[in-house]
Amino acid sequence: LASEKQYGTTNSHDTTTFSYGILHRQYRQAAHYNVTHLRRQAFYSLPSAHVDMLSEPPFSIPQTFRHVDDAIDSNADIAEAMLEAGLLMYGIDPEDESWHGTATTRDMDKARSTIRQLFRDWSAEGHKEISTILGVMQSLLLEFLPPLPTSQLHKHRVLVPGAGLGRTVLDLTASGYSVEGNEISYHQLIASNYMLNCSQQAGQHKLYPFALGFSNHLNRANQLRAVDIPDVCLADYLEERQKETGSELPFGERMSMSSGDFCVLYRQPRYQDSFSAVSTCFFIDTAPNVINYIDTIKYCLVPGGIWVNGGPLLWHFENTPTPAEKETERMAGGREIDNADASQGIGEPGSFELSNDEVVALVQRCGFEILKHEERSSEMAGYIMDNRSMLTHQYHPSFWVAKKL
Ligand SMILES: C[S@@+](CC[C@H](N)C(=O)[O-])C[C@H]1O[C@@H](n2cnc3c(N)ncnc32)[C@H](O)[C@@H]1O
Repeated sequence: LASEKQYGTTNSHDTTTFSYGILHRQYRQAAHYNVTHLRRQAFYSLPSAHVDMLSEPPFSIPQTFRHVDDAIDSNADIAEAMLEAGLLMYGIDPEDESWHGTATTRDMDKARSTIRQLFRDWSAEGHKEISTILGVMQSLLLEFLPPLPTSQLHKHRVLVPGAGLGRTVLDLTASGYSVEGNEISYHQLIASNYMLNCSQQAGQHKLYPFALGFSNHLNRANQLRAVDIPDVCLADYLEERQKETGSELPFGERMSMSSGDFCVLYRQPRYQDSFSAVSTCFFIDTAPNVINYIDTIKYCLVPGGIWVNGGPLLWHFENTPTPAEKETERMAGGREIDNADASQGIGEPGSFELSNDEVVALVQRCGFEILKHEERSSEMAGYIMDNRSMLTHQYHPSFWVAKKL
């Protein structure tokens, strides 16, 4: 797939940051240990009469453990394929031991959640979560950006900060825009690189998004169901959409990704006044200090440029240590900050959480005009939600469009 990537634009990798790559390699071992090995131990500690009863149908617990082991292996195959492509992308010798680090539990959680996020971005079932939000955001872009024939939409440069595993970047590119995704997390960058640049056909992998959790399943089949990854053949999909839109610029020249802290990267002079639109989807609540996000968006938008936002306000720093506290931990030997310079951007000290009306007021205070605001959308959206589970979380996202004054 001829997509252009700009990895390492600001934060070139070093052995510390890249040691996160090992997490994808440790996924298999850690998941087998934590998910099935410990459960087997607990199961076989039961009274033998109970073990016997639960080993027979309709329970067949040992068989379930075997199925979960198979699911872990299938997920781990994807993790390892992503890592291999990541090593190539960063020009790192897989045999070089120097980047091998020791993953913490928190690191493993991140690797595990990245694997699950493949469900959201790259499976037909999970993609509904994004397409609901993206559908609204695309229609807002069409409504508020200066009109252009579809074949010339590429003249609108759209920045997608916090692009995650890259699906929004793909879908906006497919619509004809010139799109630059940005992402801070190496876990996510390794995964998005694999999906955007290396995946070759629809259904190339089987992902078991919910197999590793044992609660709230109505039946085992739900827990153990697989989804095809990716749901589309990316090259075919983009080529078809290229024809449909009649875009005058090939999709490979309209799609790119950058790595690094959005607030640091896009405050560089070369990005001043350079994007027609910024599209933030489930992103602004990752900010410890959302004023830095707003100022950065204002800086890199052209005058009169449009900011389209959709998402909830699950302030990521609410129950976690502040960046300053994390830095103290990091200096003490932990590795809590994923690819962030601890003295800049999200690494700066201080954090606060606002309500939706306060965010909108702040956006106005910082030099934007609000053009449209749907404060609690009836379009509900989950986030890596198992819609067959007995427990579902859904957001009523807030959508708004702001214009740089
Ligand atoms: C909640 S996820 C949403 C991902 C994607 N937009 C979606 O809707 O699926 C937020 C993403 O923002 C990224 N992120 C957080 N802070 C960032 C920053 N300062 N610069 C760039 N990306 C950031 C995270 O790594 C994560 O991938």
